[in-house]
Amino acid sequence: MQHIRLTLIGFGVVGQGFVELLANKQQYLQQRYDTWLTLVGVANARHGFIYRADGLDLPLLQQLAREGRPLTEHPVAQHWQNPSDGLHSTVADILIEASPTNLRDAQPALSYIHAALSNKMHVVTANKGPGALAANELLDLARQHGVQFRMESAVMAGTPVISSIREGMMGASITSLRGILNGTTNYILSAMASGRDYAEVLADAQAQGYAETDPTADVEGYDAVAKIMILAALVFNQPLRVEQVERQGITTITREQVQVAIDAGKRIKLIASLRQSPGSHELIASVKPIALPLSDPLSRVDGATNAITVQADTLSEVTIIGPGAGRTETAQGLLADVLACVRLSIRR
Ligand SMILES: NC(=O)c1ccc[n+]([C@@H]2O[C@H](COP(=O)([O-])OP(=O)(O)OC[C@H]3O[C@@H](n4cnc5c(N)ncnc54)[C@H](OP(=O)(O)O)[C@@H]3O)[C@@H](O)[C@H]2O)c1
Repeated sequence: MQHIRLTLIGFGVVGQGFVELLANKQQYLQQRYDTWLTLVGVANARHGFIYRADGLDLPLLQQLAREGRPLTEHPVAQHWQNPSDGLHSTVADILIEASPTNLRDAQPALSYIHAALSNKMHVVTANKGPGALAANELLDLARQHGVQFRMESAVMAGTPVISSIREGMMGASITSLRGILNGTTNYILSAMASGRDYAEVLADAQAQGYAETDPTADVEGYDAVAKIMILAALVFNQPLRVEQVERQGITTITREQVQVAIDAGKRIKLIASLRQSPGSHELIASVKPIALPLSDPLSRVDGATNAITVQADTLSEVTIIGPGAGRTETAQGLLADVLACVRLSIRR
């Protein structure tokens, strides 16, 4: 049996979801994959980094989180206030990175990921910042050190988009991607299609937890831009700068515009798209509201659900539909990446 040691940075919604999933699945993973995953390190911003070489107590970590108690209450664990110090001073096989997304400079995640890859740890992340701003640099660094850098859950959470395209569609030549990659805006536009105003629906989405208190990253399209930048780097091997992605959010869409589209047999969706310009390999990237005919599978994807349509030379069109966020859904994407690292190569 393989024994794999994990360190987790970021112990919020996603990090706690991962610990819960691990606690629930440990036995199953042992039987199914002959692999035992041990969580040896956990860090957050408030309490720093704790480490126990023999493994941390998963139910206790869950209890500490539930009761708002500090990680440092975990018995027999070493502690560093600065997560970087803990990461540098301890040993694990895989870093699971789930700290907040920062689309300006991808920090602090970028430093954590750099340190882990340089120390021959595989890295899996749910964070969009590092993949959007530095995917190729980090993939190169991973290659140099003989490890994996994976980010399935950064695009459509646990719905397998990146692995389906990069591994499941290996050998196909991808010509375009078009997707609904942001659940908040799709929830708002879907609700507006039943005759409601943008402001009213946004307030409702915030009350129900579908939208952040500051919804700018979602409604102005920045979140979808980050995901399209990740896909450009991973699928087309062409990193884009943020200004190379045409961006328009949904804040100016009116109830009347939504109704005009419905009367014409269409639905307005915030579509993130990537395609190669005819006759060259240059990528044309955009995130903007588009009125889609009902014959387009994306037009019928409603609520917080996400979807992506991939066009390839050998498959015509493939559409993947599924959750784009959520505690367990995102943790599942991290778990799939962890198991892929174990399968593809693990340092002994
Ligand atoms: N939530 C989703 O459905 C979802 C879906 C896909 C991707 N993601 C991505 O997953 C990541 C985590 O999301 P989340 O919803 O779990 O966020 P969250 O609930 O805000 O949790 C963030 C965690 O990161 C910790 N943190 C903040 N600054 C840190 C630092 N400098 N060093 C170490 N840890 C730090 C926080 O510490 P404290 O607890 O001390 O504040 C917290 O534990 C984000 O990048 C997000 O974009 C989330």
